[in-house]
Amino acid sequence: MRKICVVGTGYVGLVSGAGLADFGNEVICTDIDQGKIDMLNKGEIPIYEPGLKELVDRTMTSGRLSFTADVESAVRQAEVIFIAVGTPMGDNGEADLRAVEAVASTIAQNLNAYKIICTKSTVPVGTGARLEKLITAECESKAEFDIVSNPEFLREGSAVKDFLNPDRVILGTSSQRAESVMRDVYRPLFINETPMVITNVPSAEMIKYASNAFLAVKISFINEVANLADKVGADVHTIARAMGLDGRISSKFLHPGPGYGGSCFPKDTEALVHTGDQHGVQFQVVQAAIAANKAQRSIILDKVKELLPELSGKVIAVLGLAFKANTDDVRDTPAFEIIQGLNRAGAVVRAYDPIAAENMKQYFFPDLDTRSSVDDAVQGADLVIILTEWNELRGLGLEALKHRMKSPNIVDARNILSVDQLKELGFNYRNVGRSGV
Ligand code: UDX
Repeated sequence: MRKICVVGTGYVGLVSGAGLADFGNEVICTDIDQGKIDMLNKGEIPIYEPGLKELVDRTMTSGRLSFTADVESAVRQAEVIFIAVGTPMGDNGEADLRAVEAVASTIAQNLNAYKIICTKSTVPVGTGARLEKLITAECESKAEFDIVSNPEFLREGSAVKDFLNPDRVILGTSSQRAESVMRDVYRPLFINETPMVITNVPSAEMIKYASNAFLAVKISFINEVANLADKVGADVHTIARAMGLDGRISSKFLHPGPGYGGSCFPKDTEALVHTGDQHGVQFQVVQAAIAANKAQRSIILDKVKELLPELSGKVIAVLGLAFKANTDDVRDTPAFEIIQGLNRAGAVVRAYDPIAAENMKQYFFPDLDTRSSVDDAVQGADLVIILTEWNELRGLGLEALKHRMKSPNIVDARNILSVDQLKELGFNYRNVGRSGV
């Protein structure tokens, strides 16, 4: 059991903090946002994430998880400090490291004994070396420290499960002392024989970007395959399944749709391209994936226009606003550009999402007409477009839907509806790459 401080209580920090406490460590989660810390101390979770409240409650009750806005004191008490603050996209697509560097300065000023400083946030290759220099320069106590890169691969919506049962743990360090402490921090996973990759800091930093960029490439690739399948009467699901039967390809992340969004893929792909540029290496494949992803939003809009060439004054029910199911996150959600396009064309947009509607209004469209149920959103609509694969939408009663709508037009941008049923009920429909069904 180790004494840990996690700086930053966003998705990665909060889930990691609670997860590390569940592994038996004593964890203090800290954040400069006093409001967030107050909420957490009252047992309220600032984000929607299945299973997180139970995990936080359990570890708080056990006394192994606590929250404070006193970052300095939390740093002084800890042996291992995880930096889990945001690294948003800055100018030119590079990762903005200001928050990470501010935390490093605080650590330097409070380095009262040997500590391990571990980056959990996605940071570009070279950041570990940069932090080492910064802390050495700013630390007056001259206490020893080691830098570790321990990138996190959790997905929103399944973050708790992903953290507690990861496919692999990456530990980047050149220090044996740090390695042995980190092995202790992740002891339950070592016992479970979770694959551990122990490497140097730059390799660990790159593993995260290479993994996310590769997945983004996979998605853009299958989206382009789907677009061609639509033109030639093929079914992308059959194609993806057959491709996936080749063990070298794997069927995962070959689901077509409106393009990837969220807090990671869009910014990590841009950051990797930017880092490559800085070193004279062109990531042409990743650049193409980014361009294809942007184009995919327009391709979905084109499908709407195929069914309703004149959108002005038409009522469009947008079902699903979150960038994917099981999250209230709307960062880089395809719904943003698609609603923007519909507004530009003069359509009357009505939106429904089980939990992300408020965020969509708060961050993007203050005047968005959001409805509290699917039935309400689709009543009298000229067209329905599905943008998030919520289970509730998978189970949409199509017969009742048809009765409620003014005209039976539907764009299923997530391929979650039964094509047979759509045909049977006489819907005019479009999906992504299934014209051959
Ligand atoms: C991702 C990585 O999976 C995770 O390892 C990393 O730590 C953070 O970034 P996340 O953004 O939470 O996680 O969601 P993920 O489930 O990976 O989906 C990302 C985007 O790709 C979503 O917009 C999703 O809709 C889209 N996607 C995913 C597809 O369009 N098709 C697929 O087959 C899979």
